[in-house]
Amino acid sequence: MEASPASPTIRIVSSLFRRLCSSVLRLAPSLWLTPFFVGWIFIVWGLLVLPEPAHTASSIGLTPDGTTLFVVNPDSGSVSAIATASETKLAELVVGRDPRILALSPDGTRLYVTSQASATLTILDTHPFSIRTKLRVGPEPYGVVADPNDHLVYVAASGADRIDVIDTALNQVMDTIPTQARPKGLAIAEDGTRLYVTHFLSGTVSVIDLTDRSVLEVISTGIESNMAQRIVLHPTNNRAYLPHIRSNVSNPHPLFDTTLFPVISVIDLVTNQHLLTERLELSVVDRPVNLPFDLAFSSDGQRMHIVYLGSGDLSVIDLENRELLAHTEVGDGPRGIVLSPDDRAAYVANSLSDDVSVIDLNTFEEVTRIPVTTSPLSPQLHRGKLLFTSSRSTRVSRDRWMSCESCHFDGEQDGRTWLFPDGPRNTTNLRGLAQTHPLHWSADRDEVQDFEFTIRELQAGTGLLEDPHPELGQSNAGLSADLDALAAFVESLHPKPSPFRLADGTLTPEAARGQAIFYRAEVGCAACHVPPLFTDLRVHDIGTGNGPGELLGPGFDTPSLRGVWHAAPYLHDGRAPTLRDVVVTHNPTDRHGQTAYLSEAEVQDLVAFLLSLEGEKSRVQDLERVE
Ligand code: HEC
Ligand code: HEC
Repeated sequence: MEASPASPTIRIVSSLFRRLCSSVLRLAPSLWLTPFFVGWIFIVWGLLVLPEPAHTASSIGLTPDGTTLFVVNPDSGSVSAIATASETKLAELVVGRDPRILALSPDGTRLYVTSQASATLTILDTHPFSIRTKLRVGPEPYGVVADPNDHLVYVAASGADRIDVIDTALNQVMDTIPTQARPKGLAIAEDGTRLYVTHFLSGTVSVIDLTDRSVLEVISTGIESNMAQRIVLHPTNNRAYLPHIRSNVSNPHPLFDTTLFPVISVIDLVTNQHLLTERLELSVVDRPVNLPFDLAFSSDGQRMHIVYLGSGDLSVIDLENRELLAHTEVGDGPRGIVLSPDDRAAYVANSLSDDVSVIDLNTFEEVTRIPVTTSPLSPQLHRGKLLFTSSRSTRVSRDRWMSCESCHFDGEQDGRTWLFPDGPRNTTNLRGLAQTHPLHWSADRDEVQDFEFTIRELQAGTGLLEDPHPELGQSNAGLSADLDALAAFVESLHPKPSPFRLADGTLTPEAARGQAIFYRAEVGCAACHVPPLFTDLRVHDIGTGNGPGELLGPGFDTPSLRGVWHAAPYLHDGRAPTLRDVVVTHNPTDRHGQTAYLSEAEVQDLVAFLLSLEGEKSRVQDLERVE
């Protein structure tokens, strides 16, 4: 495969031409027809001769010459290379556990891949397709981008709230930039001066000045914004577009179609302002869609193509008049989209059908599917993951509106408190629950199969159980292969390793002091949060059941504290933003462990210990060797 290397200056000039050209053409299309139009030749040169450099940071990428596709396969832990001409897989290389995002260098010769669970960045050559090296980066790396000179690569270390800066000559992390919580999506300005970062659970965007690596501004896209893991810069109009959802938690009667809304938020990159009037409400522009995940523009910037992880489809929208041009079905669990350089085809990476959809952008039809990997999951776990993630089946979701993944992304939580029929309920992280039944804050469910009620009542699906109608008291296990598969998938999720431990997995000195405090009999934490699960699987009234709207309190199921480092906000109604608030602010009468007499330093140590709690199996994933 031949990439088209071009010097940064030529690339910038070329990109200026592309911008100039598309603005001129929009203002006066008739200029095309004027033979005397002076810039004509140069515009053609700018448009056609030099291909658009790759700014890809998605789960799929295409070399600038359009010949080779690369796709990450999260479950297989691999990256596949596909020849676009023959529509066949060329090779597949194992990179790490749970790879999520890849970035091509601007000239298309190198590939950078983040693996979320092994906390690595794998650097590959695209031709011949081979692994160069693998680096340890910050915990839970997600977004990755290369700067226009390919000297530096930026990685969003989502588990440590920072961006790692990697020097590609030395192959090492040379700096880190602290950010707000959960940085995930990354995009870099064409001239390399600004980095844009989405924050997953808040939908805010940090603007980072790359000349001094400082955060210039944090832009809010609204308090309901959630699950923002992608940001894409428009090729010509100086705006950034974020696919995400809005969580309508103030809704007192959460019904599927009034609970979550799929949107595209728009940011003006000149004024750094969120443009509320330009936001696209996707269920209005198109039809109900679930989990907008990635988007790609046509090279003139007039069309936007959006894929949805949950509903498994694609919208093509005309940006100028905000109208739908097409809606097409793709495979299961699409996470990424890229267009061919001539805008004739779109390629969609389907993470759950393990293939790439090829869409003809003239007819908007899916013309073929290219197999890219073979899932290593057992058929039951694969089925369960699909039922959890996808809203396509009317049995799990009405109108494809929502799926379990919409609130429990990656089996975790959305950081929100919903007004459920039991009272206000903070979404729980599902990792590790196989060992901590009963379920729910109020312990009213004793098996994951009871979440048939969630399917029917919250998601308005027709249900996975045919007959009989489910009952909470009786066992619903063994009655439906699909319901059992969903339960098996949920129970297969392990708590994640804590980034607050030392590299070898041991406690920091503060956490070790906190551990001693936690186990002190008079403080009393370990009486209820009994190791190794850090719960006694019982209900206790610790004085928190007095909130407004509570119908099932005052007793709550002691939550397991494994993985509590990423489970904020805390307590059944999410009233405690931090762990300090749990043990001090919301424990005024010492009913929740005796903490009143602890010094501030002791409280800090106790919190350090809580932040370090993980599951016994958490670290197995993290032991992978890095050369
Ligand atoms: C609208 C957001 C939302 C959706 C959609 C959703 N959940 Fe939940 N989930 C929650 C909230 C909030 C809680 C806490 C409720 C409680 O404990 O009373 C919860 C709790 C749970 C628990 C209990 C965990 C524990 O350890 O106690 C399980 C299991 C669960 N959900 C599974 C599912 C499954 C399976 C689906 C899909 C069929 C699903 N959820 C869909 C918000 C959601
Ligand atoms: C009498 C039993 C009991 C004791 C003692 C106890 N806890 Fe708890 N803990 C609970 C219960 C029950 C909840 C849930 C209460 C709620 O959600 O309103 C809880 C919640 C928590 C949470 C919030 C977890 C989350 O995911 O939201 C943390 C953190 C916590 N406890 C830490 C501690 C610490 C530290 C101590 C010792 C100072 C302690 N607990 C002592 C029973 C106990």
